[in-house]
Amino acid sequence: MEEKAMGMNQSFWRASAVRSGYPELSEDVEADVVVAGGGISGVLAAYSLAEKGRSVALIEALKMGSGTTGGTTGKLTAQHGLIYHDLLERHGEQTARQYFEANQEGRQLIESLVRKHGIDCDFRKTDAYVISRSEDGIGKLKKEAEAYSRLGIPGRMTKSSPPGFESAAALVMEDQAEFHAMNFLHGILQELESMGVQLYEGTRYMEAEQNGDRLVVRTNQPYTVTCSQIVLATLFPVEDPESFYSNTMKPFTSHLTSFTGGDIEWGNGMYITEDSPTRTFRTSEAEDGRLVWIIGGETHPTGDGSSASGRYREIRTFAKEAFGLTDMQTYWSEHDLVTPDKRPYIGPLEKGGSSIYVMTGYGKWGLAASACAARVIAGLITGEDHPCKELFDPHRQLPEDTGNQNGGNDKDEGKKNESTTVSRIAAELEDGQAIRMERDGKPVGIYKDEDGSTHILDLSCTHLGCEVAWNDGDRTWDCPCHGSVFDSTGNVLAGPAKTPLKKLER
Ligand SMILES: Cc1cc2nc3c(=O)[nH]c(=O)nc-3n(C[C@H](O)[C@H](O)[C@H](O)COP(=O)(O)OP(=O)(O)OC[C@H]3O[C@@H](n4cnc5c(N)ncnc54)[C@H](O)[C@@H]3O)c2cc1C
Ligand code: FES
Repeated sequence: MEEKAMGMNQSFWRASAVRSGYPELSEDVEADVVVAGGGISGVLAAYSLAEKGRSVALIEALKMGSGTTGGTTGKLTAQHGLIYHDLLERHGEQTARQYFEANQEGRQLIESLVRKHGIDCDFRKTDAYVISRSEDGIGKLKKEAEAYSRLGIPGRMTKSSPPGFESAAALVMEDQAEFHAMNFLHGILQELESMGVQLYEGTRYMEAEQNGDRLVVRTNQPYTVTCSQIVLATLFPVEDPESFYSNTMKPFTSHLTSFTGGDIEWGNGMYITEDSPTRTFRTSEAEDGRLVWIIGGETHPTGDGSSASGRYREIRTFAKEAFGLTDMQTYWSEHDLVTPDKRPYIGPLEKGGSSIYVMTGYGKWGLAASACAARVIAGLITGEDHPCKELFDPHRQLPEDTGNQNGGNDKDEGKKNESTTVSRIAAELEDGQAIRMERDGKPVGIYKDEDGSTHILDLSCTHLGCEVAWNDGDRTWDCPCHGSVFDSTGNVLAGPAKTPLKKLER
């Protein structure tokens, strides 16, 4: 990777966030509800529950916002690419309308929280556009526009293009919003503190066991949280009875970049292309007031072994050709989980269950949806109804073609099968590089760090054993099965895995 030209490998949002730190769990504590996961789902669920008078302990394995919420495009919208025509065709008018209303409710709730608590998070009202660069896409946009009109969604076909960008047609959804999700998260966390919510970082949910009518949550710390209910907002649920979530959700990764500079006068609008390769873009503001461009795309199945550095190069080329941007500041990738019917799973972990709940499967559109989801979860726990309970119920009827995930090891015959010794391979690696080889028929990863030290890892994911693949752009080991991400030396960056990759001797 040409480091200088690419900038820093970190999310613009995480790098520019104004954040507070929280302690690790350092004694046994109690709460009505334990929320695991300090992303937007967990934080807003904690808020909704605390509002309803429940005592809450929010435990985050790493730092608040270190999951997908910290690496989004920050679009708060019910426009999720082209989805309404498909929802109408497959599920009918009621479901399509409810999906729109759920996301509108979430967006409005976030706006009201920003205003109520005066959260400084660059919240801006703006329109959302799907654009087609070729004549071929116009038909698809028209069908979606018809769905808008049938469902009463405020929007229409337009010729309007982002400044400097050639497009054949666009579909606008009016009155949407964009924000700095990390600063919003930290604004809400401050409110949670004043509402008496217990906040812990560096505290990973490991397991829960029943103790009478209470649940005891064990963590990676030598302490427990005793509670009556648990909300798993850990992106992929870290409890998965009968592998329902493993079997029905797929992880997809996208890549984002931030740029400054350029001489284009940017107006209103955030954009995503309908045609391939997908490009998504919007603007924001740097601390010094300069315009920042957030540009991304290149979605692919997580851990498919494709070159992430090549994907960043593609985005860089696009930014230059479309907007004349050359000053790339940062680059990063994140993943999210997609369900068979593209609706999130919000509700009881197990059918009919009333003690453990999940918030997952947003399919890369969870910012507005999570706010609505938080209300659904709070309603389920406090016995109040919410109109979206059935829409998001994880145990709803799913389409036949759920695209079953293989919970075991997905063998890729095309992968390199090195037969030479670890020492010889390590000697040939450059600092910061990694390679896969096989030893005794098992996949082994060799990573040489910046200091020249070699790390040898068993590439079997510690979740269910799929083989992780090297991501050369972000220098992580990514699991194709359910989206666990490990750093270059094997530590868990994203679950469902809870323990590091096994280190091996030379
Ligand atoms: C590249 C990209 C761009 C996106 N852009 C948009 C967008 O513009 N608009 C939009 O609406 N959506 C967008 N999304 C989707 C959206 O970001 C996600 O749906 C949403 O952030 C999910 O939030 P979450 O809180 O559920 O998960 P996360 O933010 O991942 O939070 C989960 C948290 O749980 C923690 N955790 C994991 N395991 C444990 C454990 N065992 N114990 C305790 N804590 C644990 C993690 O460290 C993490 O902090 C995008 C997604 C991607 C991948
Ligand atoms: S096997 Fe499930 S995330 Fe790796």
